[in-house]
Amino acid sequence: MKITDMEKKQGSFQIHIDSLTLEAGKIHGIIGGNGCGKTTLCKLIMGILKPDRGILDYEGLDLKDITMTAQRPYFIQGSVYENICYPLKLRHIRPDDQKIDHWLNLCGLTEKKHQYARSLSSGEQQKVSMIRALIFDPKFVMIDETLSNLDPENLELFENVIFDIQKKQTITWLLISHRLAHIYKMCDMLHFMHQGIVLASGSKQEILFESNDERIRSFVSNEVIRIES
Ligand SMILES: Nc1ncnc2c1ncn2[C@@H]1O[C@H](COP(=O)(O)OP(=O)(O)OP(=O)(O)O)[C@@H](O)[C@H]1O
Ligand SMILES: [Mg+2]
Repeated sequence: MKITDMEKKQGSFQIHIDSLTLEAGKIHGIIGGNGCGKTTLCKLIMGILKPDRGILDYEGLDLKDITMTAQRPYFIQGSVYENICYPLKLRHIRPDDQKIDHWLNLCGLTEKKHQYARSLSSGEQQKVSMIRALIFDPKFVMIDETLSNLDPENLELFENVIFDIQKKQTITWLLISHRLAHIYKMCDMLHFMHQGIVLASGSKQEILFESNDERIRSFVSNEVIRIES
């Protein structure tokens, strides 16, 4: 996906993406401080927001193959099962109950299948939100801070889910997280946003450890990144 000269104004905030390439098949990370425009960018890519101007080149990708998990998951009134089926219903895909049960089992949510989704704990909601995003085999997935409330074990579970999917079908991911260790572990490419613009794109090494930009260095220096060899 290529974004060129895209602008969107929301109140006093303006996002302006001069040029951003999200190479297909890679795991991209977006980092940057609160309010710099990460969620806004995702909504623009999803088509929830329309840009005031600019070009979003989806390079053949259909909007129905793109999905996003929200920072605060939104559920329809109904059970966990009904929520997981919802994106399938929208796409006229018959639910594969075996596949749904497999996901619920993997996430330790088998007992919660018929529970009212909005009554789940925050971490459980984030897991259901992930299942709901992945259930229809999307080609472009944006994860907006969704994994932030997961305990270390569940975070690792989803990190492995993402790596497993990459091994089988290679889709494009856009991960947003303030946990730099998670970003370092997962991403092929990093994009740093600041006040509505993309300051820099590059490898995680370049962005996290080699940047000369004071804004990036100061952001990164707030967290020690544990590197596992
Ligand atoms: N509908 C709106 N009207 C006015 N301002 C808005 C609107 N939606 C978002 N904004 C502003 O746009 C800016 C960017 O918001 P956005 O949610 O994209 O930030 P973010 O990078 O995702 O931050 P965070 O790390 O806190 O999630 C914020 O200052 C926000 O207040
Ligand atoms: Mg956000």
